[in-house]
Amino acid sequence: MSSPIVLRSTAPEAADVEALVVLLARDSESGSVKGSAHVLAASTSTVAEELADAVAALGLIGKAEEVATIPAPPVLKADVVVLAGVGADPADPEAVRRAVGAAVRATKGRARVGVLAPSDDPAVVGAVAEGAALGGYAFTRYRSTDPEPEVTVLVAKARAKALRDVVEHAQVVTEAVTAVRDLVNTGPGDLTPEAFAEAARQAAAGTKVKVASLDLKALRAGGYGGIVGVGQGSPHEPRLVTLSYTPSRPAAHVALVGKGITFDSGGLSLKPPTGMITMKSDMAGAAAVLHTVLAAARLGLPVQVTGFLALAENMPSGDAQRPGDVLTMRGGKTVEVLNTDAEGRLVMADALVDAAALEPDAVLDIATLTGAQLIALGPRVTGVMGTPEVRDAVVAAADASGEQAWAMPLPEDLRQGLDSTIADLTNVGDRFGGMLTAGLFLREFVGATPWAHLDIAGPSFNEGSPWGYTPKGGTGAGVRTLLGYLESRAR
Ligand code: BES
Ligand code: MN
Ligand code: ZN
Repeated sequence: MSSPIVLRSTAPEAADVEALVVLLARDSESGSVKGSAHVLAASTSTVAEELADAVAALGLIGKAEEVATIPAPPVLKADVVVLAGVGADPADPEAVRRAVGAAVRATKGRARVGVLAPSDDPAVVGAVAEGAALGGYAFTRYRSTDPEPEVTVLVAKARAKALRDVVEHAQVVTEAVTAVRDLVNTGPGDLTPEAFAEAARQAAAGTKVKVASLDLKALRAGGYGGIVGVGQGSPHEPRLVTLSYTPSRPAAHVALVGKGITFDSGGLSLKPPTGMITMKSDMAGAAAVLHTVLAAARLGLPVQVTGFLALAENMPSGDAQRPGDVLTMRGGKTVEVLNTDAEGRLVMADALVDAAALEPDAVLDIATLTGAQLIALGPRVTGVMGTPEVRDAVVAAADASGEQAWAMPLPEDLRQGLDSTIADLTNVGDRFGGMLTAGLFLREFVGATPWAHLDIAGPSFNEGSPWGYTPKGGTGAGVRTLLGYLESRAR
C-alpha cells in the first residue's frame, strides 16, 4: 500500500527529497511553433531562475508528455529535477494530473519525491496529488521491484483547509483506483469468484459498507440463470456479492452493477489464444464497483449506494453451457445462448434485475463488455449508453474527473438482431454495432429505471506503453467517473 500524500510549505531548496518534479507550461504568448517553456513554481522564484537555463539549453517547450530528468542545481537537496510539460493551460487539472503522473513515473527507483505545486488553486493541488499517487503506483504482489515513492507536494499555504481537503479527497480516490488496478493485475488463478468475494468482505470489514454474498446453491435457488449458466463450466463457483452503504437521510439512492468475469476463456465458443491473454481483466467493472462503494462510504457521501458484483469464471468443460442452451434469467426472461463468449451480458442481466427491483433513482452498470467498444472508440474512451439524462450525467462526471467517455446511441433497429426463434432473446445480434447491441440486451433487464451502461473493455486495461499517470496493465478506469456521478447526486 502506498504511503499517504503529504502537503508541506517547505521551500524547494530545503525539501529533503531525492527527486523534485517541476512543471513547465507552454508559452501561449509566443507566436512561434517552438516557443519557450516557462517554469511553474508557485511558492518560489529561486527555483524557476535556477532552472531557466537548463530549460532553454534542452529546448524544452512545455508541451504535454514532455519529460526531462536533469541533475539538480546545487541550491537543491534533491539529486535530480524532473521537468514535465503540461501544455498551454496550466490550470487544466487533467493536464496537471498527466504531467505529474508522467514525471513521478520517471523518478522510478527514488524513494522520496517532491512535487512543486504549479499554483495554490485547490483544483490544481488536488490534481497534483492525484497525478502523483496514480503515477507512483506499482503492483508488488508477485515481485517486489521498486517500491512506490513517498510523495510530498510543496505548496506555500500547506495548512490551508481547502488544500488539506482536496488532498484528503485525492487520497481516497487514488487508493480506490489503485486498489482496482491491484485486483485487475492479479493472476486469474488467484482471483476466483470465491476469492474476489472474500477480498470484498475483507476490504469492507470495519467500514460502514455491509457485504452479502450468494453462493452457487443460493444462486440456483434464486433463479439467477445467467450467473449460474456462465459459471457452470468452471470448478470455481460463481458468486453474487451485494454491498450496501446507507447513510442517514440520503439525497438519492444509486445502484451500481459490475461485470466480474474473473477469467474469460470464451467458454465453449473458445477465444483464440491471443484474445485470451488479457482476459484476467474481465472483472474490472466489478472491481470498480467494489472500490467506488467503499470510497463513497469513506467520503461519507449523503447518497445511498448499493453495489452488485456479478462474479463467475467463463471456462469450457464437460459441464459448460453449450451454444443452443436456453437460460431462465433472474426475473423469468429466457435467453438462448448462441455464443458462450457473450457471457458478460448474461451475468449482468441477473444483477441488473436485482438492482432495478430496489427502485433506486438510477442504476449504473460498468463492464468490460465488448471488443466492439475498442473498435468504435479506441482503447482509452469509455462508451456510455442508457437513458439520455443519466447517460449524459455520467459523461459529464467523466469529463469533470479527467476520464474520457462518450455518449453512444441505442438504435432501435438493432434490437431485432436479438430476437430468438425459441426464447425471449438471444445473447448475440448483428455483427456491426456490437457495443450498442450489448447495451440493448442489458436494457431488457432494467425496466423503466433510469439507467446508464459504461463499456470499459478498452480503458480498463492498458496493453500499450504507460502514459501520463496510466501504467501498463490495470488502469482503475471508471472509479473516478462513478464516484463523480455519486457526488453529483449528493447536491
Ligand atoms: N470480455 C469480452 C470483451 C472484451 C474484449 C473485453 C476485448 C476487453 C477486450 C466479452 O466477454 C466478449 O467476449 N465479447 C464478445 C461478444 C461477441 C461474442 C458478441 C466480443 O466482443 O467479441
Ligand atoms: Mn466473452
Ligand atoms: Zn467477457
